[in-house]
Amino acid sequence: MAPTKRPPKKRSAKKTPAKRIRTLREKIRRHEHRYYVLHDPEISDFDFDQLMRQLTALEQKHPAQVTSDSPTQRVGGRPVDEFPKVRHRAPMLSLDNSYSVDELKEFDRRVRELSGLSQVPTTAELKLDGVSISLTFDSPTGADAVLTQATTRGDGREGEEVTGNIRTIRSVPLRIARKHLTKIGKPRRFEVRGEIIMTRKAFEALNAEREAAGESRFANPRNSAAGSLRLLDPSLIAQRKLDLYAYGLLVEGRVPMGEHAKILKQLGRMGFQVNPAWRLCSSFDELLHTIEEWEAERDNLPFEIDGIVVKVNETRLWEELGATAKAPRYAHAYKYPARQATTQVLDIAVQVGRTGALTPVAHLQPVLLAGSTISRATLHNEEEIRRLGLRVKDFVLIEKGGEVIPKVVKVIPSRRPPNTREFRMPASCPVCQGHVFREKGEVAVRCVNAACPAKLKESLLHFARRRAMTIEGLGDALVDQLVEKGLIRDVADLYSLQKAQLAALGRMAEKSAQNLLGQIARSRTAELSRLIFALGIRYVGERTAQLLANHYVSMDKL
Ligand code: IVH
Repeated sequence: MAPTKRPPKKRSAKKTPAKRIRTLREKIRRHEHRYYVLHDPEISDFDFDQLMRQLTALEQKHPAQVTSDSPTQRVGGRPVDEFPKVRHRAPMLSLDNSYSVDELKEFDRRVRELSGLSQVPTTAELKLDGVSISLTFDSPTGADAVLTQATTRGDGREGEEVTGNIRTIRSVPLRIARKHLTKIGKPRRFEVRGEIIMTRKAFEALNAEREAAGESRFANPRNSAAGSLRLLDPSLIAQRKLDLYAYGLLVEGRVPMGEHAKILKQLGRMGFQVNPAWRLCSSFDELLHTIEEWEAERDNLPFEIDGIVVKVNETRLWEELGATAKAPRYAHAYKYPARQATTQVLDIAVQVGRTGALTPVAHLQPVLLAGSTISRATLHNEEEIRRLGLRVKDFVLIEKGGEVIPKVVKVIPSRRPPNTREFRMPASCPVCQGHVFREKGEVAVRCVNAACPAKLKESLLHFARRRAMTIEGLGDALVDQLVEKGLIRDVADLYSLQKAQLAALGRMAEKSAQNLLGQIARSRTAELSRLIFALGIRYVGERTAQLLANHYVSMDKL
């Protein structure tokens, strides 16, 4: 029988706004999942943006339809003053860990003994080096489940609620369709646990951006993920490109009975990003082999890992095995050794920071370590140098944890050459030759000259930072010129800069000069809290600045 041709459907004309909104959201969710979780987009970024635009427009026209799980609401959260403390329904324990195969063997032996089994299959997952998080999803009427709360680990019993921030992470599903909950018994409430990470690529990009804006670099991807999660304004964290990898599930507060391997698969079906690198190992040898395999691959991964998490596959055994106060007995973290190298300290230079603090930095004979060439290591302060017993020209062991800037672990006395010399903190500022002073009870030595060009440069860079006055284009090179040519003696001078002065610096096109002046002019309207923060007063960070601004309301009152 020939198919009967239906007349083309009159689409949107008949659909109610509510229905159109629902359909659009489903579409957007599907594409978000394809892009951010499966990394396999089906449409172009442009087409995706169009869908988002349509939805935003519709929601603006029908504000009653806006719900917190709408894709438009990822960045909708308001800035908060602080994160509320929340008690975990089930504690977020940590893991026993070791660096040795012997201890892993001991874990295996204990598990076999306690379970009475001769061989216990385990899963091996990458131990992502990020921040652990617990996400609560609720479905009070048995309909789709919605993300209602995200909590950091805190001390394991009590964490901080960072829901607004977590919503901004595109690989976190805000809503999970009911049909994906059948396998876990359509619970009213469940919790997904996982790790929030920043990829190496996002971390490097963020640091490059921070450096260009004169901000300090984050030491490693874990710190930058943790620091980002603690931003009080969700619109700021949205730019940070964080990612979620899920590794655990609690249904009504308990681990579902069955196999952990199946839970990982189920999390994937529910729309979470699960690291595909996990393996189910049926024997201890297979486990060791997997551990070695990933150690070799470690530097090629898009994110940092610090080991392998081994879990007993049968979750029935999890309860039987129990837990100590600190860690469950069903799991063990095998940590990879830190990457170390030896090299020579060619010199120790001293940098002057914004607050005048003098920081010694070791200049090293360049050495390859974990995929990058290292030529500098921070030494923090004079005391650290004394603690290490370090002399210039010494050979040292350096180590790279997650950090990009490695640290000096120890001096190698047996390789000390005859020509070493002691390092002494300069008696005056290496930049302005002004007085330096060490306050009682402090380790830092500071330059006290208010007009020290090094301090001024760093203060200007801080003032212009994105989180301060956001003056784009006021970077390192320009600040150097402005200070050296005497055009700027304090931050207030920024506001009387003339186009002709900038043009006279050479290298600066008229358009860039115009843009910079525009940015400076625009910064006049920055919020009070940003201005207070931008002034770079010691002990007045972003949060204190916010508190001062809330309390005093105007600079005059303050
Ligand atoms: S399971 C009882 N699986 O490692 C804790 N943790 O040192 C169960 N981590 O706090 C955690 N990747 O933040 C588990 N695949 C993974 C993990 C993982 C990273 C972190 C997690 C935990 C820490 C324990």
